Amino acid sequence: MRVFDHFAFIAPLYARVAYSKTDMMRSVASLPVRGNLLDVGGGTGRVASAIRDLVDEVIVADVSLGMLKEAPLSTLRPVCSGSESLPFADNSFERVIMVDALHHVIDHNDTARELLRVLKPGGVLVIEEPDIRTFGVKLIAVAEKLLLMRSHFLAPDEILKLFLNGEKQVKAVDGTAWIIIKK
Ligand SMILES: C[S@@+](CC[C@H](N)C(=O)[O-])C[C@H]1O[C@@H](n2cnc3c(N)ncnc32)[C@H](O)[C@@H]1O
Repeated sequence: MRVFDHFAFIAPLYARVAYSKTDMMRSVASLPVRGNLLDVGGGTGRVASAIRDLVDEVIVADVSLGMLKEAPLSTLRPVCSGSESLPFADNSFERVIMVDALHHVIDHNDTARELLRVLKPGGVLVIEEPDIRTFGVKLIAVAEKLLLMRSHFLAPDEILKLFLNGEKQVKAVDGTAWIIIKK
């Protein structure tokens, strides 16, 4: 089934929005690090660009060609792919991140399995999500439903349950949650 790509529609605007939580991402993802980082659902490379200098190479994987077209090709490597089946070998990346995208994917379980599969042993996976336990995010969830976006928000403890293995931790500040898994 073909699904309307809301993000292709807003991509030019999205590319202009700066990533404001760089310090937190730097801390929870234990950056800088020698090696490569995969940003899944990375869109226009907004987050990847902000942390580009903290790793050797950054690959941005996203299902929306419209979003990837806005990513800066001189610094990032875009790959068009759904998170449910990533085109990378097992144990490929020192860091894997997913920011503001988990609630958009079709299958949370397949996505979680793939995020962990491509992460190297000893590597860190960070999922940053709007914290659905907060009132503001509940309103956003309703708005996305009205816009017919296929959003399905999970609370941090539900996200943790997607991962059977790994050392797990949650941080939550001001309506944003970071789920951190060390493989
Ligand atoms: C709200 S945007 C966030 C983009 C970027 N992470 C950021 O914070 O700037 C959500 C992104 O998830 C992507 N996305 C949705 N479902 C996806 C899937 N199954 N696999 C990969 N990317 C997906 C969308 O195309 C979109 O670019």
